[in-house]
Amino acid sequence: MNNTLKIIPRAAAVTHGGPAPRHIAIVMDGNGRWAARRGRRRVVGHRHGLHNAREVVRHCARRGVRCLTLFAFSSENWRRPADEVQRLMGLIQGALETEVDELHKNNIRLRVIGNVAQFEKKLRDSISAAETLTAANDAMHLVVAANYGGHWDLTEACRSIAMAARAGALDPVRLCADTVERFLSTRDLPPPDLFIRTGGEKRLSNFLLWQVAYTELFFSDVLWPDFGAEALEQAIADYNHRQRRYGRTAAQVAGAGAAEERRA
Ligand code: IPE
Ligand code: IPE
Ligand code: MG
Repeated sequence: MNNTLKIIPRAAAVTHGGPAPRHIAIVMDGNGRWAARRGRRRVVGHRHGLHNAREVVRHCARRGVRCLTLFAFSSENWRRPADEVQRLMGLIQGALETEVDELHKNNIRLRVIGNVAQFEKKLRDSISAAETLTAANDAMHLVVAANYGGHWDLTEACRSIAMAARAGALDPVRLCADTVERFLSTRDLPPPDLFIRTGGEKRLSNFLLWQVAYTELFFSDVLWPDFGAEALEQAIADYNHRQRRYGRTAAQVAGAGAAEERRA
């Protein structure tokens, strides 16, 4: 599989934010308010949100982001009015059908994480068809979190670990953080480097709870349908000004960076 993006012209990319984080995870929030401000129904906001998601995927692909995880529907979003839930399901179904060809042509792998077993068969079939078609692609990994919850992810991991222990395939005494990670839905993905939430709320809303342990957090007041390439570049620029210490001191990290530069 070659790595060139066929449809997406790299030259068109806005890149002033600096080097792309390897993995960006986004809570795409604010569609409803975007619509309400225009006197429109919430579904109109969701449609514009989907349009923006397409643009952001393209931009991340151009930028060389290795992995992009988008929160599309949470395990709590079933609590919304039935009509909104139904329309969201329709949008996810439609997007899978219309976008998969472009993703595939651009060597992008699509994966859905979340409790997909609760979706209707038609949606489950579209998900597995898109995942199968794009399974070998490696330019970018697009992960869509649908009916996803961090609690669900960790509970499923606990269940699988307990079953493996009961079957004698895993020694509970040797359980460590790496073991847990191997049982999460994100098992073969790097942890997110940059977490973005649009729409002004400053909470995780049960998104990747385990995985964001050392992720850099970025909260924007911009509503998701308006959070385009330029806003994303500002988030990336902000990220590039952070020092990731993982428990060490600032001087230790600066020293290690300087030593690396001397070696290069
Ligand atoms: C996020 O936008 C999209 C989904 C949760 C599916 P919202 O629908 O939550 O928009 P607000 O927060 O009501 O503005
Ligand atoms: C989080 O947004 C879920 C998605 C963006 C898919 P919500 O709008 O559902 O979050 P809360 O309910 O305000 O925390
Ligand atoms: Mg919201």
